This record gives sequence, structure tokens and C-alpha cells, in this order.
Amino acid sequence: MDTVSTSSREIPSRVTTAEGIAADLGFGKSCIPEVGRLLRALAASKPDGLIAESGTGAGVGTAWLHSGLGAGARLVTVERDEELARRASAVFAGDPRVEVLTGDWRLLEQHAPFDVFFCDGGGKRDDPQAVVDLLAPGGVLVMDDFTPSPEWPPRFEGEVDELRVFYLTHGALAATEILTAPTSSAVVATRR
Ligand SMILES: C[S@@+](CC[C@H](N)C(=O)[O-])C[C@H]1O[C@@H](n2cnc3c(N)ncnc32)[C@H](O)[C@@H]1O
Repeated sequence: MDTVSTSSREIPSRVTTAEGIAADLGFGKSCIPEVGRLLRALAASKPDGLIAESGTGAGVGTAWLHSGLGAGARLVTVERDEELARRASAVFAGDPRVEVLTGDWRLLEQHAPFDVFFCDGGGKRDDPQAVVDLLAPGGVLVMDDFTPSPEWPPRFEGEVDELRVFYLTHGALAATEILTAPTSSAVVATRR
């Protein structure tokens, strides 16, 4: 256990450590705790699974995924910023289930297919079909930082959000969008 209690409101110790790194480096793009708890739940749903993350950042999302990681599961994450990757890697030193790659998100291709994929750096916008292709059958894709839209098709800044429509209507995915905060949503999709 890396927490002092099992309360759903508890922040895992590695998340706190990674948040400290983010503060130290002035990195402001870490996931919020509401997304983190979703990541933990998804990681825990695949106790022997291969879990991936594109865009490690300071390791906050990685640490949430890690907090749900089963004994037989593995977690691979990639970050192109060398300092972020180095600092985040130290958070998971000593746990052989975790690998922090330094470089472009396409490095993940050699580790796929994934049972859970938190796509939060490269791929989400620049090659969405390649993102879908990295999922195992039954694999779950999660992407945060969307702006909730009450209408269909969803709009962002007055324009149809074609990227969100791509994921939400993709034939190989069973997808939905959930609120993670009053002003923020996530797309969660399972590969058929
Ligand atoms: C939103 S932040 C990640 C936050 C982190 N996943 C978390 O939940 O705390 C996006 C990160 O993706 C990285 N990134 C952006 N494009 C990338 C690419 N093509 N390959 C690898 N990393 C990339 C950025 O350097 C940045 O650190």
C-alpha cells in the first residue's frame, strides 16, 4: 500500500511526490484528481494488463495509474521532454512494473497493444487512428481536458469539435463522454 488509508479521497503518496515535481518545474498540465481516480479505477480493472500513457508530464497521471496497478500488470509511459521524463522516472524507481520512456509518443508502438491507454500527450490530436490502433480488444482509451458541450455534435469555441466526434463515433470503439469537473470532460472508449 502506498497510501495511509483506502479512502477514495486519499491522494496516493507518489501522486503527491509527482505534484511536487510539477510545482518545482513550473509544470501546470498535470491531470486533476477527478481524472486521476478514473485512471486508478481503469488500471485496477486490468490486474494483469498492459497500461500505457502518452505524455508523462511530471508523473501525476502515471502515479494515479500506478496506484491501481495490479501485481501482474505493467505500466509504460512516454515523455518527450527529457527533464520531465527523468524526474518522473525517479518517482517509480524500484518498481520493475513501470517503464518511463524518453522520446516521441510513437515509441509506444513497440509495446502495444494496450489494455488501458491514457492518451494525454502525442497522438490524441495528431494521429487519432494510430491511437485507436494501439488498443487491444477490450482495451480502454481515456482522454481528458475536453470542454463539455450540451449539443450534438459537440462544439468547441463555436466550431464542431471534429476530433471528439472522431473518437465518439468511431466504429471500432464503444465510447462515451463523462464530466470530470463542471467545466471539464473526458472521453472513455472501449475497443470492440
Ligand atoms: C497534458 S501533459 C501530460 C500530463 C500527465 N499525463 C498527467 O496526467 O499528469 C502533456 C505532456 O505530453 C508531452 N508531449 C506532447 N507531445 C508529445 C509527443 N509527441 N511525444 C511525447 N510526449 C509528448 C508534453 O511534453 C507534456 O509533458
